[in-house]
Amino acid sequence: MDETRARITRDGIRIYEEADYAGMRAAGRVAAEILDQVAALVKPGATTAEIDTFITEEIERRGVISATIGYKGYKHASCISVNHVVCHGIPGAKVLADGDILNIDVTVIVDGWFGDTSRMYVAGALPRKAERLIEVTHESLMRGIAAVKPGNTFGDIGHAIQSYVEQNRMSVVRDFCGHGLGRVFHAPPNVLHYGRAGTGPVLEEGMIFTIEPMVNLGRPETKVLADDWTAVTRDKSLSAQYEHSVGVTATGCEIFTLSPAGKFFRTWE
Ligand code: MF3
Ligand code: CO
Ligand code: CO
Repeated sequence: MDETRARITRDGIRIYEEADYAGMRAAGRVAAEILDQVAALVKPGATTAEIDTFITEEIERRGVISATIGYKGYKHASCISVNHVVCHGIPGAKVLADGDILNIDVTVIVDGWFGDTSRMYVAGALPRKAERLIEVTHESLMRGIAAVKPGNTFGDIGHAIQSYVEQNRMSVVRDFCGHGLGRVFHAPPNVLHYGRAGTGPVLEEGMIFTIEPMVNLGRPETKVLADDWTAVTRDKSLSAQYEHSVGVTATGCEIFTLSPAGKFFRTWE
């Protein structure tokens, strides 16, 4: 396709063509299938490095590319964020314990298209407080997605997420956001998970981006550890996240990263 003729809005957001959605579908599907597969590996006693190694090997076996290995010096095929880790947890020697909750985030490149998605998992039995957090986080993402249609704004997405989370007396992380993607990993706009209805760029058919709310049981503030990646809640409260890659259609949106196994929300069932 002729890159020079791609339309870019005044906010710097690329408008993709219908044919491009096929590329996103393929990439999103691979990322989602890998997240389906890892569910079997998440259990007490497993290390996050073992899970990441499986993901690396599965990406290789499928003949696709990890978007995160080599990205700004990152060395792994996934981010695995356990308990009070908000995002960008680095896989390593950490041994999962009964009741730990974790987000696994995978981004793959398939024929030049990026598929970016994450879900929550639990090792062993799910504590009730963590279950509520996970339910609210998933529902906040789905409410954000329900606001995606031409004529709505990015502020409508943020507002849908924030108002639902705060009604449930939890907090939305402000320090990280969703992003445009497509043939690149991170592009305009910043997709905020909070905001005022009717504000921000207007959604148009052909926009492709992620929505990936991070929700804390306690306060929203985060800090990044000395490894320069791992973001944690400042108050050590539990945090959860779900992420889909979506494209705006004429009447709403298409989710590229649906789980073929029907295991997006409750991965442990
Ligand atoms: N997948 C993450 C996102 O949702 C980005 C991870 S970048 C990494 O945007 F380098 F930390 F892997
Ligand atoms: Co993302
Ligand atoms: Co991601």
